[in-house]
Order: sequence, then structure tokens, then C-alpha cells
Amino acid sequence: MIKVEGLTKRYARNVAVDHISFEVQKGQIVGFLGPNGAGKTTTMRMLTCFMPPTDGTAEVAGYDVIEKPMEVKKRIGYLPESPPVYPEMEVVEYLDFVGRIKGVEKSGLAKRIDDVMETCAIGDVRNKEIGKLSKGYRQRVGLAQAILHNPDVLILDEPTAGLDPHQIIETRDLIKSLAGNHTIILSTHILPEVEQTCEHVIIIAKGRLVATDTVANLTSRLRGSETVAVQVTPSNANADLGQFSQSVQRKLEQVSGVSRVMHKDSRDGKVEFTVESLQGRHIRPELARAIVESGWNLNELHAVGLSLEEIFLQLTATPKEIEAAAAPEVAVVGEQS
Ligand SMILES: Nc1ncnc2c1ncn2[C@@H]1O[C@H](COP(=O)(O)OP(=O)(O)OP(=O)(O)O)[C@@H](O)[C@H]1O
Ligand SMILES: [Mg+2]
Repeated sequence: MIKVEGLTKRYARNVAVDHISFEVQKGQIVGFLGPNGAGKTTTMRMLTCFMPPTDGTAEVAGYDVIEKPMEVKKRIGYLPESPPVYPEMEVVEYLDFVGRIKGVEKSGLAKRIDDVMETCAIGDVRNKEIGKLSKGYRQRVGLAQAILHNPDVLILDEPTAGLDPHQIIETRDLIKSLAGNHTIILSTHILPEVEQTCEHVIIIAKGRLVATDTVANLTSRLRGSETVAVQVTPSNANADLGQFSQSVQRKLEQVSGVSRVMHKDSRDGKVEFTVESLQGRHIRPELARAIVESGWNLNELHAVGLSLEEIFLQLTATPKEIEAAAAPEVAVVGEQS
């Protein structure tokens, strides 16, 4: 549905987007991530024909953004980073105006406007001037205009910026409900939001593509080894928990493929460990067997994934930041220089 090849945007002094290539299949919701200034907005502007690329190509629904901008615009809904405002227009007037530009059939337009106003929860401000709306409401009006003509593709630049927590949840649900029939790229700085909404992510940093994959694949690729959380109880409820914990630790350390066993907690008659495998080893079946064969009760055993936040920080860290993380500077309180 979206095909980007070698897309580049050069400004006088810097390269904002540097030969990025990716594809998005129909019906996918893709999180577009990157630090401030990475080139997200610039990429989205090129995809939506707001700005021509310096180099490379982009195709939306089979149409080239340079050769067929009108065809692309018909099939795309765009929520810009700062939605265009017509401060003196009432919300309903503005949506009517947008609907006409986008070629929504006149007979169905009023009904369609009512529907999107309900979807985006802006019915209560329908006759308010846009210039007098709060930031969150303006953002919702921006979303309403993006989905008004029911486009195949939605490009949303930070759709939940400025919304309150209720509205963030509703917008997230709205975006999810649009998936399947729509193809969606959304940029955001809220990583848990991406984990909840998007299966795929595209990560860019300094204009370059650093990853494009599913969240699950990124996790295992970066980690290469498995981390497993284990909770065990002794068969004898009166057993000494300290001694039990040591026995479990020793047992787990002997399991083939285990590189490290870390004690996490001992209380309420239960002990918990985090176990790491060697690169490329799957240790869950053997861990389970070792515990059960020792006559203990296995309450819980599950793989612990890297959070998207950890992935993001690893992939977009500058060499300087990596050094700093390896050798943190220690501030000595009270030291005189
Ligand atoms: N009109 C412009 N002229 C010159 N440089 C620009 C222009 N617009 C953007 N840039 C530069 O291009 C780079 C990418 O900016 P862009 O707005 O695409 O980043 P972004 O990933 O959307 O960041 P943010 O997370 O802050 O929204 C930045 O270095 C920015 O300064
Ligand atoms: Mg931006």
C-alpha cells in the first residue's frame, strides 16, 4: 500500500531524510518512531505530497507522489503536526469545507460530518470557532478532517499530542478500529502507545532508517538470548524460604543453556528469579523440568520481552550516549574542585 525507496530530503545545510526505504502492507498500523529532528514529519510531508522529495520515490496505493499527487491525496488522510487552522470558521463549517475539497458526495456529506464528529467526540463544539477551541479539541478536529473522506491510508503525525488521558484512550481505540480497512502510519513519542496499537515499527534517527520490523522480532533480534521469569514454591509450606531460595538458585544455574540466575524476591512462601539464557538458547522447557523434577511447585514461568523503550534507546543512541551508559559519571557530593 505504501512503498518508499531511497527517499531523501535535503535542505540547504542538512539532510533531513537520508535515503530511507520501507514498505507498509494494506491494513497494517505502523508506528513511526525517532528522536526529535529525526525526519518523521519531513517523511510524512513527502508521503502526503506536501513537499517534493529531493531524491528517491514514494508510492501510495500504487500512485507515485510526484507524478500523481491528486490520486495520492484522494486516498490519503493526513493529520499534520500542527493542523491547519481557519480560526474564524466554525467546526461544522470547516468540515463541510474540507468535505467539498476532498470530493465527498454532497448528498451524504452532512451525515458523514455527523458521524465523524461523533467518532472524534467533537459534537459539543460543532458551532464553535476553531480559533477558540482548546488544543485537544483542535487536535480532534484535525483527526476528523483526516478521516472525513474515508481514505485508504492515514498518515497521523502525533495524533495524541495534547489530548487528555480519556481522549488518548479513545483515539487509540479509534485508530485500532480503523485498521484492517485502512493502512495507518502514526508517529508518536509515547512508546507504550505504539506497543498497544502497532504491530510494526519503523525507527529512524538523524534521517536514516535504523529498523523496520515487528516489535516482537526487534525484541528477539536485539536480545539474541532469552530472559525468563520464574516463580516457585516449596512442596513443604513450612520450609525455610532462605534455604529454599538457595537450593532453587543452584538448581537453575545447573540447567544447560543458562548464563545467569538473578534472585528477585522471596515472600509469602514464594521465590522469584529472573533467568537469562546464553545466545540463541531456549531454556524454558529445561527450566520447567528441573523445577518439577525437584518436587517443587512451578507457579509461573514466562519470557520477559525487552520493552519498546529499551529497543528504541538502544537503536537510536549516539556513540557518546553508549559510552556514557557504559561508564556513568559519578558526581561526588561535597567535593571541591
Ligand atoms: N523547512 C526547513 N528548513 C530547513 N530544515 C528543516 C526544515 N524543516 C525541517 N528541517 C530539519 O529537518 C530535520 C528533520 O525535521 P523533522 O521535523 O522532520 O523531524 P521530526 O522527526 O518530525 O522531529 P519531532 O519529533 O521534533 O517532530 C531537522 O533537523 C529539522 O531542523
Ligand atoms: Mg515532527
